[in-house]
Amino acid sequence: MDKQHYKFSTKTVDCYFDAVFSFLEKLVSKEKAVIITDDNIASIYAEKFTGWKVIAIKPGEKNKQQSTVDHVINQLIKIQADRETFIIGIGGGVITDIAGYTASVYMRGVKFAFVPTSILAMVDAAIGGKNGVDVGMYKNLVGVIRHSEFLLYDYSFLKTLPQEEWINGFAEIIKHACIKDEKLFERLENNSLENFRESPEKIADLIKRNVEIKYKVVSNDEFEAGERKLLNFGHTLGHAIENIYQLPHGNAVSIGMVAACKISEEMNDFPTVDSERVIDLLKKYNLPVTLPFGESRRGAVWEVLLMDKKKSGDAINFILLNKIGDAIVKPVSLHQLKDLINQVL
Ligand code: GLY
Repeated sequence: MDKQHYKFSTKTVDCYFDAVFSFLEKLVSKEKAVIITDDNIASIYAEKFTGWKVIAIKPGEKNKQQSTVDHVINQLIKIQADRETFIIGIGGGVITDIAGYTASVYMRGVKFAFVPTSILAMVDAAIGGKNGVDVGMYKNLVGVIRHSEFLLYDYSFLKTLPQEEWINGFAEIIKHACIKDEKLFERLENNSLENFRESPEKIADLIKRNVEIKYKVVSNDEFEAGERKLLNFGHTLGHAIENIYQLPHGNAVSIGMVAACKISEEMNDFPTVDSERVIDLLKKYNLPVTLPFGESRRGAVWEVLLMDKKKSGDAINFILLNKIGDAIVKPVSLHQLKDLINQVL
């Protein structure tokens, strides 16, 4: 096991890489703990969870809504959870959001930790403190920034992760490479999803590098005044199309990154050959690079964009690439953006 500490303004998060699930009981007592997970993980790992109190919710982004939080809170009341209760979110990005948000509001906040079980949660959702819910079509409209006590990485959970979830997770890994790490981009070009799936060392190393990238960006700018915005690369359009087209998060972000590359070419002299490298890499990891349906729903996409949290006045702060591994935030006027969207979607 490899223990690291990640320092944020309000908390130091302990991170246990290459750990085993059974180590959890050394970190938190079973008496105080309540596991929040989803029905799939609860049934696959029922044996591992013996002796722990478990609240299982329905899986899927469509359940990342306030009504699910209300349901979890009712369950917590039923089991008489109090201020000493320690919530452990075990699952992918929906679970880290629901568990972290519920823990932050239940009794005005109880302690929580995560055992991320998907690639996306391991490299992204579990780190950074932002946890919340969608409101109808609007992604992550309601939430908090509050860090977990610790993160426990047991890579054996990845053995049961479906292929489409591996693919989704790689969208965030490619995003990290595009905005911060050209060497990582090259490493991804020189490997494949299969290489990483088949090699425990390679995937462990890749996950750790991505946690470091995310941690460094978040710790430099916890409350998203500047650098943290870069993590939204591909997410402005990605979030807008995710719920409208009912796409998995990574698929939506992949299409959003392609659009952001094209807008970077138009507005930021990002070389076309580099756009092509990004598109080729996304394809190599089986991610979509165009909307999968003929029908265009630009009107609905536009409505969602207007509610985007990155909007300020009549411009949206868009993340553009200067070159691979180097990104900037540029305000794009709504007028310009409408034209660009008509070209790229
Ligand atoms: N929970 C993901 C983040 O804070 O960015």
